[in-house]
Amino acid sequence: MQHPRTPDPIFADERLAPLYDAFEGDRADLLPYLAIVHELGARTLIDIGCGTGEFALLAAAEGYAVQGIDPARASLNVANSKPGSALVRWHEGTVETAPASRSDLAVMTGNVAQVFLEDEVWLRTLAAIRERLRDGGHLVFEARRPSARAWESWAEPHEESRAFPSLGLVRHCRELLEVDLPLVRFRHSYAFPDGSLINSDSTLRFRSEGEHREALNRSGFEVVAVREAPDRPGKEFVFLATAV
Ligand SMILES: C[S@@+](CC[C@H](N)C(=O)[O-])C[C@H]1O[C@@H](n2cnc3c(N)ncnc32)[C@H](O)[C@@H]1O
Repeated sequence: MQHPRTPDPIFADERLAPLYDAFEGDRADLLPYLAIVHELGARTLIDIGCGTGEFALLAAAEGYAVQGIDPARASLNVANSKPGSALVRWHEGTVETAPASRSDLAVMTGNVAQVFLEDEVWLRTLAAIRERLRDGGHLVFEARRPSARAWESWAEPHEESRAFPSLGLVRHCRELLEVDLPLVRFRHSYAFPDGSLINSDSTLRFRSEGEHREALNRSGFEVVAVREAPDRPGKEFVFLATAV
């Protein structure tokens, strides 16, 4: 049986996870998810791959009952340090190890769906999500459209710095390592003022709309819509599926 792999250092390393939010910048991408929560009238949510908890905290602040799930302890530590964190139930692990629930809605923001490289692990994850939703509940997640070829922009030199009160200036570079579709590998490097350099290598899987539909159908979901991400038109699939 294939096991989920260890999350990338940018999420799981104690020195890197606290940098994630600053380099991620504005999270306008999360607001459409909140609109979907309202649209569906959901009250109980699970946020899978919640990372540093930005969406879970946004929803909890609006009064929703939220469970945030992520295997990266360093990211959950960041989430836990934020105002309102006591309102969220955090689970360190995968959705398969998360407590049973009959939630109204499961979300995966920030292209979490692409971290599941093997079909076996992706199907097991979807099945575990289905088990934790009530009948008629919903799953919404985004994934980059292969046709938008995001990796081409990742091949362009990318370097930026951010100042952190406790650290000083940290420089971040991104480098495309390999395109071997459907897998794309890239590296984030972080240079710290004390001279240390930490790399975080990532691999993402790009699935077609048909592959996503088939996986959802096989896992107890019916696709009700494939939408755009309003902040990234033409670049993302946003799947909205009902638990049947
Ligand atoms: C790109 S981040 C997105 C984080 C967050 N959803 C956001 O929008 O900021 C991907 C997240 O997926 C998490 N992850 C990796 N493997 C996972 C797995 N098997 N199950 C759930 N989450 C996982 C990582 O730890 C990381 O926090």
